[in-house]
Amino acid sequence: MTAGFPDGFLWGVAHAANQCEGSYDVDGKGLSQADVIPSPQAMDYVNIGDLMKVSREQIATAVAYHGTEGYPKRRGTDAYARWEEDAALFAELGIKALRMSIAWTRIFPNGVEAEPNEAGLAHYERLFTRLRESGIEPVVTISHYEMPLHLVTELGGWENREVIGHYVRYAETILRRYRGLVRHWLTFNEINTTLIEPYTSAGLLEDPERPMEPRSYQALHHQYLASSHATRIAHEVDPANRVGCMLARMTHYPATSDPDDVLEAQRLNEMNLQHTDVQVRGAYPGIVRRYWREHGIEIAMEPGDEELLAEHTVDFLSFSYYMTLVAAADPSTYGQTGGNLFSTIKNPNLPVTEWGWHLDPVGLRVTLNDLWNRYQVPLFIVENGLGATDQVLPDGSIQDDHRIDYMQRHLEAVREAIADGVDLLGYTCWGGIDIVSASTSQVTKRYGLIYVDADDAGHGTYDRTRKKSFGWYKELIASNGASL
Ligand code: BG6
Repeated sequence: MTAGFPDGFLWGVAHAANQCEGSYDVDGKGLSQADVIPSPQAMDYVNIGDLMKVSREQIATAVAYHGTEGYPKRRGTDAYARWEEDAALFAELGIKALRMSIAWTRIFPNGVEAEPNEAGLAHYERLFTRLRESGIEPVVTISHYEMPLHLVTELGGWENREVIGHYVRYAETILRRYRGLVRHWLTFNEINTTLIEPYTSAGLLEDPERPMEPRSYQALHHQYLASSHATRIAHEVDPANRVGCMLARMTHYPATSDPDDVLEAQRLNEMNLQHTDVQVRGAYPGIVRRYWREHGIEIAMEPGDEELLAEHTVDFLSFSYYMTLVAAADPSTYGQTGGNLFSTIKNPNLPVTEWGWHLDPVGLRVTLNDLWNRYQVPLFIVENGLGATDQVLPDGSIQDDHRIDYMQRHLEAVREAIADGVDLLGYTCWGGIDIVSASTSQVTKRYGLIYVDADDAGHGTYDRTRKKSFGWYKELIASNGASL
C-alpha cells in the first residue's frame, strides 16, 4: 500500500502577475518588460523563442502606445481588478497555497525610486490578508518575468551590477511589509531561463557587437547574488521565513544506450543543475567553470561574491515540471518537437500536447528522486500543468477531462515519489485560472481550472467559470490526495 500525502501538504495553484493581473497602468504601476511584448500575429512554433524577445524599436513603439490592444500582458486576465472574486474562487477550491508573484513595477514603477508606491503595497497587503483569512498560504515569487522596463532600457538589465541594489531594495521593502503575512518566498522564477530567454528572464536586449551568452552568464551571476541578499534579509526579518530557488527542471534522457548519448544527457542535466548547485549548495560546479574556460567566458566577480553565495543558500528547492527532454551526441538525425523553451528531440515513447510538449508523468517521479538524492533539501513543485484549448459546451460547461487526466497521472507519480522518500512541501498546479501564456502570449493556451471568457485578441467578458477540473481538484484537496 502506497503511503499518501503528508499532513500539511501545500496543495495549491500558481500564476504570475504579468500573465494575469492586467491593469498595466493603474494605481501608479510602471511599465514592465512584459508590457511591451507584442501579440504574435502568426504562430510559428519553430521560431517561438522569437516571441519572447523584443528590439529597442519595438520597445519605443510600445512605450508610445497607451492601450492594451496588441499587448496581451497589459490586459492579462483582469486579475488585478477582480482580485476579490478570484480569491473567493480559490477559497472555494480549498487550496492551501497560492503561488503568485508581486509585480515589481507596482512597488517601484521604474525600479530606481527611493520610496515605494504605497498603492501597490496596499493592494498586495489586502490580497495576502484575504488569502490568510481563507487559510491560504501565499507563496510569493519576488521576480517573475516582469522587471521594470526602465532597468532594461536605461541600465541594460541584469548584466549591470547596479540592478542588484535595486532588486535588494525592492525585496527588502516587501519582506518587511509582509512580515507574518507571507512566509514562503521564491527569489526568481526559473532562473535558468536567463541562459535561454535572456530578455524575458534578465532584461537583456540583443546587441550585434556583443554575443549574448557571456552577457547571460554575467546577468545570472548578478541574479544569484541578489537572491543570496534576499535570502539573508528574509531570514533577518523573520526567522520563520522560508526561501526557495526556482528552476525550470529539464531532465534529459539519453536517446539511446550509446555511451556518447548517455554522456551528453548527463552533461545537459549537470548544466541544468548548475543553478541549484549555486543556490542550494552555494558554489559554482566544475562543469560550469570548464564551460566558461572553453568558451572564453569571463565573469566579473568582486571580492566577497563567492562567500555570499556560500553563506546564504536557500531553504528549499522549487521547480517547474512540464516535460522531459532527450539528448543525443549527434542530434541532427532526430526529429524535433515544437514548443518554445522546451524544444527537444522527439521521444518516440511519449505523446505530445497540442503545443508539442512531451507528456511524461513518470518523468516527474524520476525528477523528484534525482533532485532529492542530489540535494537533500525539501522540494516544492510550483508549476505543472497542461496548456490546452478548451471548449465551452452549449450548456456553458467546460468538460476538461484532458486536464484531469494530466493532473491525475502526474499526481500519482508524485505520490510514488513521496513513498520513495522524497521530502515534498507541496504542489501548485500552473494556472488556477486561465492566464496569458508566457511564451506565446495566448489566452487560448489554457492552463486554468477556472475558465476566463477571453480570446487572444482581448475580446470577451473576462467572466470566470469553473471547469470540470475545478470540482475534481477540490475533492482531491479535501481528501488530502486520498481520492486520487
Ligand atoms: C513556465 C513559466 O516556464 O512555464 C510560466 O514560469 C509559464 O510563466 C509556464 O506560463 C507555461 O509556459 P507557457 O509559455 O505555455 O505559458
